[in-house]
Amino acid sequence: MHLLHHLLPLLLTSVLYTAAGPTPAASQCRCLYGEPCWPSQSTFSALSDQLSQPILHPVPPESACYPPSSPSGNCSALLSSFDNGDWRADQPGAMQLPNFQTYTLPNGTIEACYMNVSLGVPCEQGSVPPIGVDARTVEDVRAAVVFARQNNLRLVVKNTGHDYLGRSTGRGAFMLWTHHLKNMTFDQEFVPDGAPSSAEKVSNAVTLGSGVAWHEAYDFVQERGRFILGGISVGGTVGAAGGWIMGAGHSAFAPTFGLGVDNVLQFTIVLASGQHIAANAYQNTDLFWALRGGGGGTYGVVTSVTYRTHPVFSLSMAVLTANFSSMDIAQSVITKFIKSQPAWSDKGWGGYSSINSSSFQLQYVAPNVSTADMNATLSPFVDFVSNATQGASQIAYQNFSSFIEWYAATYSQGPPQVGYPILGANRLLSRALAAENPAQVAEKLLSLNGGVLGTLSVAGGAVSEVDPSSMSVFPAWRTAVAELYNTVTWPEGSPNSVIQEQVQALERNTEILNEITPDSASYMNEGSPYEKDFKKSFFGDHYTKLKDIKFKYDPASLFVVPLGVGSDEWDSDLRCPV
Ligand SMILES: *[C@@H]1O[C@H](CO)[C@@H](O)[C@H](O)[C@H]1NC(C)=O
Ligand SMILES: *[C@@H]1O[C@H](CO)[C@@H](O)[C@H](O)[C@H]1NC(C)=O
Ligand SMILES: *[C@@H]1O[C@H](CO)[C@@H](O)[C@H](O)[C@H]1NC(C)=O
Ligand SMILES: *[C@@H]1O[C@H](CO)[C@@H](O)[C@H](O)[C@H]1NC(C)=O
Ligand SMILES: *[C@@H]1O[C@H](CO)[C@@H](O)[C@H](O)[C@H]1NC(C)=O
Ligand SMILES: *[C@@H]1O[C@H](CO)[C@@H](O)[C@H](O)[C@H]1NC(C)=O
Ligand SMILES: *[C@@H]1O[C@H](CO)[C@@H](O)[C@H](O)[C@H]1NC(C)=O
Ligand SMILES: *[C@@H]1O[C@H](CO)[C@@H](O)[C@H](O)[C@H]1NC(C)=O
Ligand SMILES: *[C@@H]1O[C@H](CO)[C@@H](O)[C@H](O)[C@H]1NC(C)=O
Ligand SMILES: *[C@@H]1O[C@H](CO)[C@@H](O)[C@H](O)[C@H]1NC(C)=O
Repeated sequence: MHLLHHLLPLLLTSVLYTAAGPTPAASQCRCLYGEPCWPSQSTFSALSDQLSQPILHPVPPESACYPPSSPSGNCSALLSSFDNGDWRADQPGAMQLPNFQTYTLPNGTIEACYMNVSLGVPCEQGSVPPIGVDARTVEDVRAAVVFARQNNLRLVVKNTGHDYLGRSTGRGAFMLWTHHLKNMTFDQEFVPDGAPSSAEKVSNAVTLGSGVAWHEAYDFVQERGRFILGGISVGGTVGAAGGWIMGAGHSAFAPTFGLGVDNVLQFTIVLASGQHIAANAYQNTDLFWALRGGGGGTYGVVTSVTYRTHPVFSLSMAVLTANFSSMDIAQSVITKFIKSQPAWSDKGWGGYSSINSSSFQLQYVAPNVSTADMNATLSPFVDFVSNATQGASQIAYQNFSSFIEWYAATYSQGPPQVGYPILGANRLLSRALAAENPAQVAEKLLSLNGGVLGTLSVAGGAVSEVDPSSMSVFPAWRTAVAELYNTVTWPEGSPNSVIQEQVQALERNTEILNEITPDSASYMNEGSPYEKDFKKSFFGDHYTKLKDIKFKYDPASLFVVPLGVGSDEWDSDLRCPV
């Protein structure tokens, strides 16, 4: 298997790539910045002539504050905006989570550029790619891809929004920044490329460039009187046509409308060859299968995604908070909560919770449901919680005339979710276990130690109604009702030993969750970069087929990301084949 995949690229390369020039063999290490093999100034000038924008030189945004005695940039702009997702997305050298800007040497020394200049640590480039392309057109993307391939560079595709696996970063790499591919088009009648004339047209489809953020897409679609299923995060900065969709794409509205991947009609993508093609139900169907769950940064550079939209609807929201004065109370409330998951998701309701041994917060949304009806359904649970906690609980209902009104009220602002270090891990909770053994699930959840813990009720309902083999997304999604998540953080500037303690807490908690998720199924986009067996946990039975498709479209493995399909053939820095 291993050997074959290294030979195959060599054989196919000469056939596919003669037109675009030579491709270095996949057995070679990638060339990194600073090495003698790095392209010369004149080679970069030749690239520059093909681009619509000047070549980028990304730097960590914190570098504006250095040297502290005479800051090189606008340090106060950084200090006032470091936790603003839109601001970070606009800086090519900023990752949403600054821990992914750092690089840890084998001896544990961390190269970073910290916001806190009082730490006395010099500002270093870390894992931020030092050079790149600000793509504004498909031609820019094609030029950058061909340049990276011909010069054997480690290519990093950075879009917009966060990435918990560090797929948008790489020490000494060449960055292709797709943040400014902001096209949005609305088609009253959409026909996928290559569809026969007899094919049914899809009404009210929207095509989003890869750099569009969800808050931009929501406004655009709302103005046309429609709803689109998308990612939910504070500030709405998740990219609408990037890693979110290629990894599954969940939302509290998924139990009504399915996952992101269930709503896609077409991808357009630049392949390693430089070709720009469309993948949909009629052409390049294997690639279409792979892009719906096979993970970002792996098959090529997606330039746009076309989605179905839906009629607008009103909705209700319930927010419940409770305090637990004993473990027994926590156990009884969380058991009841877990047991309720299948029934609530079958109604199309979804939401988010945060759980620990002393408190519980829950936010649920019910599309197309009045507050009175939501109350009627939730009352038995709410009464149970109130009684169990001896009144230390509170429920509030609120209704909204549209999704956009709800989104503006609850997610346009809020406690920052970016700008500080975060690592996460998660497991998908199966419907069977939630229904049949909720007490065991509650017990394991409450036994986790460290970090923030909760549930994302983003599966079940419509998500369960799709054939698991119809696309690559982890089949476990189809039998899941929720994602159980755990995140950790640490103070900026912490030594590696402190960070490793947090990593270990995350790993211990993941081991506990494995006891209730025997297949270790995990949502890759909120997964851990330290996941022990990513093939099993992120892709399951679909891994082999995903890898075959990858090598068909990317025979020389230009597109490699941490814990992505095919990354098992590379060292941990994704620099040399193993
Ligand atoms: C620095 O950033 C702050 C905050 O964004 C802004 O008000 C100020 O005008 C900027 N200063 C300069 C010199 O650009
Ligand atoms: C770690 O390695 C780097 C690079 O080799 C070196 O500069 C640094 O001094 C080392 N640090 C320690 C604590 O050994
Ligand atoms: C910055 O670092 C210094 C030195 O470690 C520390 O005393 C201070 O609390 C830090 N400031 C912030 C805002 O974290
Ligand atoms: C954006 O849309 C315009 C008009 O449809 C089109 O000409 C252009 O090629 C698109 N740009 C990208 C990057 O897709
Ligand atoms: C539980 O979470 C609440 C709210 O996030 C927090 O205030 C509290 O300290 C946490 N308790 C424990 C035991 O972690
Ligand atoms: C909302 O209810 C109306 C009337 O029953 C129905 O036509 C529509 O499909 C529903 N929409 C959703 C999102 O459930
Ligand atoms: C929305 O909430 C208001 C105020 O609580 C209530 O009067 C109204 O009946 C609710 N409407 C729906 C459709 O739930
Ligand atoms: C929910 O309904 C019950 C019974 O109809 C009512 O007593 C209660 O006030 C309602 N709760 C809220 C928060 O509206
Ligand atoms: C209320 O809680 C107590 C324990 O605190 C329990 O014994 C009782 O059965 C509960 N009542 C209801 C109606 O759930
Ligand atoms: C839970 O405890 C916190 C801290 O003591 C308190 O502020 C809050 O009001 C309590 N919540 C409920 C619902 O009792």
